[in-house]
Order: sequence, then structure tokens, then C-alpha cells
Amino acid sequence: MPASIVLGTQWGDEGKGKATDYLADRMDLCVRYQGGNNAGHTVIAEGRELKLNLIPSGILYEHVTSVLADGVVIDPGVLLGEVAELQADGVDCSRLKISGNAHLIMPYHLELEKVTQRFLGENALGTTKRGIGPSYGDKAARIGLRVQDLFDEKIFRQKLDVVLEEKNKILTQVYNRLPLDGDGIVDDYMEYAARLAPHVVDTGKLVHDALRDDKNVLLEGAQGTLLDLDHGTYPFVTSSNPVAGYALASVGIGPKEVDRVIGIAKAYVTRVGAGPFPTEDLGPDGERLGERGAEFGTTTGRKRRCGWYDACIMRYAARLNGLTELILTKLDVLSGFETVKVCVGYQAEGERYDDFPPHQSLFHKAEPIYEELEGWGEEIVDARSIDDLPSAARKYVDRLEQLADVPVRLVSVGPAREQSLPAG
Ligand code: GDP
Ligand code: IMO
Ligand code: MG
Repeated sequence: MPASIVLGTQWGDEGKGKATDYLADRMDLCVRYQGGNNAGHTVIAEGRELKLNLIPSGILYEHVTSVLADGVVIDPGVLLGEVAELQADGVDCSRLKISGNAHLIMPYHLELEKVTQRFLGENALGTTKRGIGPSYGDKAARIGLRVQDLFDEKIFRQKLDVVLEEKNKILTQVYNRLPLDGDGIVDDYMEYAARLAPHVVDTGKLVHDALRDDKNVLLEGAQGTLLDLDHGTYPFVTSSNPVAGYALASVGIGPKEVDRVIGIAKAYVTRVGAGPFPTEDLGPDGERLGERGAEFGTTTGRKRRCGWYDACIMRYAARLNGLTELILTKLDVLSGFETVKVCVGYQAEGERYDDFPPHQSLFHKAEPIYEELEGWGEEIVDARSIDDLPSAARKYVDRLEQLADVPVRLVSVGPAREQSLPAG
């Protein structure tokens, strides 16, 4: 049975948590393939609101095995805290599996990110300050520590000593900060090791065997396509690859093992942190979208920047990920606008672009070209089928589908599981 991939098509916070929870019902395995606790996913199910940072949303189902694959970065203290919180909420986390190849977020990653972002001043990216960039940086530089290193204290110590000597020089001599104490780090991380040990398995083989045994496997991305390190709005991106292609590399399976790539798109667009955002609306419409959509970050509590739906970035996301279907979320937030706008192209340096422009500087200057559609006054949170939607809302969904050239399979009209309308 081939696997499905679910991922964000915009700048994150598209409602992946809710969508994944909805899809997980029919899954045996849910595998998170990149990012770390920079992600924040909210799931409202069975009257409870749960916030997840690292653990896949499938954890809420007893029949699902949740997996953190090789390409994820793990802050072990944070992960154990999340497990403890979920357990306190009655969620059984004993089925969580963690790859020994996943890289660790270390205390110096957090410290270095703090000082380097501060150093950048007004050029700072506005990261989540969870140590994501520094951890992936060390992975690429081949000085990272991995989950498997936790289980041999001597090796852990040796690797830590080498890397900490350099990190402490940077902290003390470049940034005038205090050095970090290796003994304290070893003590903390050895304690984490003991608690994580029961969860660490060969996740690549686990996924491979599940696929061979005709199990349903969902590979779950964090962040969004426009935050992709290679294909996003670099440098205003995260330090990993949310795009579908990376799911395979992270989990360690071949391209023939996947047949569905499900893109999650909000019915408008939000962005947290710095970087270009052509359809951002700094006026009352953007304010209203933020208020109605409760657009505050799940992880950092920051106010999200809001704007109209952008069909150009959607087409780009469809191309990059080979999307086979779409889940459209937060349509309810658009109720009450007299008209709703959709960006169908950009104007930059005197030229029209119907697609995502080839250079970053053009995207920075891109002025959206809008199509204006009729709005709908009614609240739609109680709709339980597509036919319950006002005709203007259905026309809006149809138009987005046509512009993306990808079928919309589900429309979400509220945060709860039951506010999900199968379409098409
Ligand atoms: P993720 O990072 O993509 O998982 O998204 P977040 O959880 O960070 O942000 C999405 C927010 O919208 C969460 O608070 C969800 O509970 C909420 N949400 C998801 N779908 C809908 C929807 O259809 N309507 C409304 N009003 N809220 C939604
Ligand atoms: P989910 O999974 C929205 C943004 C940060 C910052 C940039 C880099 O909830 O959609 P990082 O800490 O990753 O180095 O920050 O990426 N960012 C997100 N924005 N949702 C997320 O995750 C994000 N994860 C990172 O705001 O602009
Ligand atoms: Mg989020």
C-alpha cells in the first residue's frame, strides 16, 4: 500500500494539525519528516484542544503509531515535556517511535541562535528561537550529535567536547557571553537518554515493513512550502525541507512508495516572521482576517501577518510537491466580507508574472493582481456538507480549485474534527 504525504502549501499554520488528525483516523503510522519544535499544531478533538510541537497529530488515535523520522531535529527536553503533557491529558504516548539518526538540538544551539539573531538587528529573520537553524547547520557541517549518540556516554562526551570547545569560543570571544558547561549538558542529556530509550527504533525499517504489509502510512510535514530551505523565500525560510521530495529522503523510502500528496491551504494566507508576502493586507481586511482567524502563533504567540489567498504561490506549491489533492481550511473566516480577493498574478518591474517569479528580488517587489469574487454574509461553521455552503462560498472554492488545477478533497469550516466537509 503506497504512503500519503501531507504538507503545508503556504508559509505554515495552514491547519496541518487539524487536517492530519482528520486523515490519521484511517492510518496505521503517522511519520513526521522534518523540522522540530518550531512547529505548532493545534488539534481540537473530542472536546479537547491539544497543542503539538514535535509529536505527529496521529498520537491522538490509539491505533496509530507515531514516528519521528531521521530528518527531524529533536530537543529532547522539549520532547519529553510534550510527552508528559499529553500523558497528563490522557493521551498514551507509549507508541511513539524515534529515529536514532535524528539530530539533537543542544543548549548551545539555543544560545547561539539568540545571539546571532540579535546581532542581525533589523535583518533578523524572526525565527522561533528553538535552535532549529543551528542544529541543521551542524548536521550539514557534520559536527551534529544524533539521538543514537545518547546511548554511549563516552562517545557522546567525546563529540560534545570537540564541538563545545568551538561553540564556547564563539560565545565568549565573538558574542561576549558565558561559556556553557559540558558536565551539566552530559548530565541532562544522559537523563533524557534513559527516558527516550524505549522509543528509539530503526524507523526506516519500521516504515518500510509497514508499507510492505499493506499498512496505511501518512508522512507529515511541518512548516510550509514557501518556508522550504531550497524552494522558499530564502533567506526568510526555515532550515529544512517541508516539500514532498524530502519526505522520502528523511524516512528512507523510494519515490514509488508514495501515491497521494495532499496539500493543506488556508482560504487566505498568513505568515509569521520576516520576509516577502505580496498579498499581505495591512489595512482593516488583514486585521479582520487575523481577528476572525485567531491568528496568533501556536509556538511563539506572535501575531501572524494576514492577507488574501495567493493562487500563484499555490500553483508553485502544486508544482514543487506534485500535489494530487488539496484540503482547504478556515473558509469560515471569510464569512462577512462583501467581496473576497484572490491573487492571480504579480506585477514587478513593469512585467506581469502569472507564476512565482524566478528571482527573489522580483518577489520582494511583486504587486498582487487581484480577482475579486462575491463574498457571503452567512456564518458557515455549522455546515456539515458542501451543499450546506452558500453558493458564493462554493464558487470561491471552485475558483481556487480551478486556479490550482488540483482537486479540493476537503473543506474545513472550523477547528473541530466534525467541521470538515468532504468535497469532489
Ligand atoms: P498548523 O501549524 O498548520 O498545524 O496550523 P496551526 O495549528 O498552527 O494553526 C491553525 C489554527 O487554525 C489552529 O488554531 C486550528 O485549531 C485552527 N483551525 C484549523 N482549521 C480551521 C478552520 O477550518 N476554521 C477555523 N476557524 N480554525 C481552524
Ligand atoms: P507550523 O508547522 C509558521 C517561521 C518562523 C521564521 C522562519 C524560520 O506550525 O506551520 P525557524 O525557527 O524555523 O528557524 O524560523 O520560519 N516558522 C514558522 N511559521 N509556522 C511554522 O510551523 C513555522 N516554523 C517556522 O516564524 O519566520
Ligand atoms: Mg502552526
